[in-house]
Amino acid sequence: MEGLNGMCAIITGSAQGMGKGIALGLARRGVNVALCDLKWAELQETGDQIKTETGVHVLCRKVDISKQEEVENFVKEAETEFGRIDILVNNAGIHPLKPIEQISSEEWDLVFAVNVKSDFFFAKAVLPGMRKRKFGRIICISSEAGKNGGTVAALHYAASKGAVLGFVRNLAQQVGADGITVNAIAPGRIMTAMSGAVSPKENRKFIDMSITKSLGKPEDIAYAVCYLASREASFVTAETMAVNGGTLRD
Ligand SMILES: NC(=O)c1ccc[n+]([C@@H]2O[C@H](COP(=O)([O-])OP(=O)(O)OC[C@H]3O[C@@H](n4cnc5c(N)ncnc54)[C@H](O)[C@@H]3O)[C@@H](O)[C@H]2O)c1
Repeated sequence: MEGLNGMCAIITGSAQGMGKGIALGLARRGVNVALCDLKWAELQETGDQIKTETGVHVLCRKVDISKQEEVENFVKEAETEFGRIDILVNNAGIHPLKPIEQISSEEWDLVFAVNVKSDFFFAKAVLPGMRKRKFGRIICISSEAGKNGGTVAALHYAASKGAVLGFVRNLAQQVGADGITVNAIAPGRIMTAMSGAVSPKENRKFIDMSITKSLGKPEDIAYAVCYLASREASFVTAETMAVNGGTLRD
């Protein structure tokens, strides 16, 4: 593999959990990383850890990814700071766990704004540069719940993650001729704060359902991202990669 050394990436929701794991995984391979999250203190801590451990260039900004202007300003700043963005990882997501009776119209809109619309804002902002340079990797973190509706997943969450798959398959067709690939990753249950909000009994069910008899780790998703971000993955696009220990076999 030629490697990722010297590339520049944006990773959303990178203060903790999967986003932090993905940022670390890319940085360990020499990728300069622009991190954003709402959790400013945790984000700075993550940024410092990555800088100390890997020595890559790290940019940290507090950004609400559901706000187009904030996204545009962040992308502009990252492009100025790094010279270009090669890799975009749309990772941030929210999952308010509740039944349909308790979901308001406002909360539905918020879940779609954070989980889907932000992918559109970020893609729109990075694409002009990627098209000009004839290279780009856009990776969106969906979920197993976007395919099968989930086990305990909330309705707006599952619907938003399904929408991400349509987003990826459509966008891939619009940008492929410019050397840009667009793929999704559908994680199974991964050990983060989000899965920690689910009861241990529900998480146990996932372990039992899996072939590996385990939950996943953020690093498992990071390895998949590193492959999809590589030059060698140029013929893989509009794909949804399952990283789930074999829980969903479709
Ligand atoms: N953990 C799992 O089992 C699992 C499974 C399938 C898919 N996913 C998906 O993986 C992604 C990462 O999840 P995680 O488990 O690391 O969750 P997490 O809750 O630990 O991390 C999500 C991060 O996104 C940030 N975020 C939320 N709203 C934001 C906003 N408006 N602007 C900027 N940042 C915002 C949060 O502050 C947080 O740091 C999500 O898209 C999630 O839906 C997770």
